[in-house]
Amino acid sequence: MTSTTAIRGGTVIDSAGSRRADVVVGSDGSIIEVGADLKADSSIDATGCVVTPGLVDLHVHLREPGREEAETIETGARGAALGGFTAILAMPNTTPAVDTAAMVNEIRHLGRGTACDVHTSGAITVGRRGEALSPMAEMVRAGVRVFTDDGTGVQDPQLMRTALEYAGSLTHLSGGRAIVLAQHCEVSALSGGGFMHEGSWSSSLGIPGQPAEAEELMVMRDIALSKLTGVRVHFQHMSTAGSVEMIRAAKAAGLPVTAEATTHHFTLTDESCNTYDPVFKVHPPLRTDLDVAAVKEGLADGTIDAIATDHAPHTPEDKELTFAEAPPGMLGLETAFALANSELDLPIEVILALMSWRPAAIAGLDPAHGGPIVAGGAANITVIDPEIRWTISGAAMASRSNNTPYEGRTVRGRVRHTILAGRPVVVDGEALL
Ligand code: DOR
Repeated sequence: MTSTTAIRGGTVIDSAGSRRADVVVGSDGSIIEVGADLKADSSIDATGCVVTPGLVDLHVHLREPGREEAETIETGARGAALGGFTAILAMPNTTPAVDTAAMVNEIRHLGRGTACDVHTSGAITVGRRGEALSPMAEMVRAGVRVFTDDGTGVQDPQLMRTALEYAGSLTHLSGGRAIVLAQHCEVSALSGGGFMHEGSWSSSLGIPGQPAEAEELMVMRDIALSKLTGVRVHFQHMSTAGSVEMIRAAKAAGLPVTAEATTHHFTLTDESCNTYDPVFKVHPPLRTDLDVAAVKEGLADGTIDAIATDHAPHTPEDKELTFAEAPPGMLGLETAFALANSELDLPIEVILALMSWRPAAIAGLDPAHGGPIVAGGAANITVIDPEIRWTISGAAMASRSNNTPYEGRTVRGRVRHTILAGRPVVVDGEALL
């Protein structure tokens, strides 16, 4: 029998707007009723909170298979639920890479029964080596809607053109849903040997840099290839003012492009690297104040469609190496909403659009995720206290790793409850799964 839970006392905010309402969800995974004085088997309190469609992260590294000492699908999903995410899109740079339907099915299998709906992207090229196209059709049949070689960009423009044309021909296998090629924009011939942003800080610290142009040249190229092929390109972790400007112009020209920015690219700058602490090493690198301002502007005016985390766990042993040797990447799932809420001068409705319904639509996960909170809708819901202040601690996180660059930072806004398919998976900030 379906058991029901009422979320009482909150303000519902979804793509349809904002209103005071209680929400009753059923263990069958659906929203039963939205309104006042509703009956249910049990209740959870949402007084003073926002009740919103679950957050959706287009960019997470879950490390399984291959680096389970840094994260597993289970621990990553738990961290995601604590961060208010009901759906996450895993990147394919595992060992081995996710480049076959068998690997896609393996990730899906490992994601079942965890605290979050785990989806995976597929690699554009075999082994993410940038040499030959992966069997995209079999992965689309297995449910993949987003392809990327994330961790590296597809360097060869002819291969990228072919990948776009191939992806554009596969929509008959996806029920008409667009297949998206997502690009990690980095021309490795320019970025190779650089460990942080190339600029005045890299000069004074003596750390070799990666120029902004390493990202921007690939953004420019892929805008051109999207125009040539008419196929959608999603630009991952946009970090420079020049990239934001080019995407703004591409959208104004009507091209089918979308973009995401990570929380760290609008909350941290290259100045943080002056401690030589590899916790601040990430690809693309932390940039300048001007770039941060441009990313914020892009989020505010809709040039950038989504906030993603690029959650990239690494073990303490790895992150204790020197700046040059340590792997790039930082945790993001459990801090993303609070950072966006604290650091962006945007109404919460806009932040939720950037973190829920817009990324859900890009990944083809709507309406199960990001859909409006109405009777009959999917019961993937997050309850957030937007005012509460708390202090970030890596040790307190669910992740197997603790490489947060925000240790000790006080932020505003915290996820209180997360409901996945009608079942509470986080209650009062505690994970139940
Ligand atoms: O900083 C990063 N870490 N950037 C990437 O593109 C890959 C990621 C990882 O897998 O650690």
